[in-house]
Amino acid sequence: MSQTLIAPSILAADFANLQRDVELVNNSQADWFHIDIMDGVFVPNISFGMPVLEAITRHAQKTIDVHLMIVDPDRYIKAFAALGANVLTVHYEACTHLHRTLQAIKAEGMQAGVALNPHTSISLLEDTIQDIDLVCLMSVNPGFGGQSFIENTYTKVRALKKLITEKGASTKIEIDGGVTNKNALQLKEAGADVLVAGSYVFKAENPTETIAGLKEIVA
Ligand code: DX5
Ligand code: ZN
Repeated sequence: MSQTLIAPSILAADFANLQRDVELVNNSQADWFHIDIMDGVFVPNISFGMPVLEAITRHAQKTIDVHLMIVDPDRYIKAFAALGANVLTVHYEACTHLHRTLQAIKAEGMQAGVALNPHTSISLLEDTIQDIDLVCLMSVNPGFGGQSFIENTYTKVRALKKLITEKGASTKIEIDGGVTNKNALQLKEAGADVLVAGSYVFKAENPTETIAGLKEIVA
């Protein structure tokens, strides 16, 4: 079984000490940087945009996993590739031509991800799963950090894992929202490959140890 990756979400970092928090992740056991981009239209919140991502990637030394919570993401695929995104995830609910969008992301040399809101069924990916490098299952409604984990996510992880196996795909399963030491093992056992954790890591007294603790739980 492959190892479970931990991706701290920079949304919960201290933006007045961004370089410090990026270095903290660099020097921790974390695997990826998870970067949340919100447009105030697809979700009822605005996070940060290109100049901030540029500042992050200038210091980040691990995989950059960008989660776009924006309408019409095709407009910015090339821009995010130029900024150094390694994984670019768009929302299923924001894409009219998902297959085309996935091809466009891969054409820019990035891994293509698709995020599903809590209400969006796994079955909608039956015809695209082989083209998807990563499915991000939202375990909260997107837009804000610090919300509580939706329990139905376990059922969705198992259904997605089954679909991936049946189709012979190599898609990774990422879980985003409300991840803590309380649900990490159960998520891994259900089939999760990447766990995003924002508040649980950055609001902790010792984020480095908290990341190490999560890695140990899923080891
Ligand atoms: C929510 C974002 C998440 C968020 C997770 O819209 O996509 O990545 O930062 O934060 P926590 O771990 O605090 O739920
Ligand atoms: Zn996210």
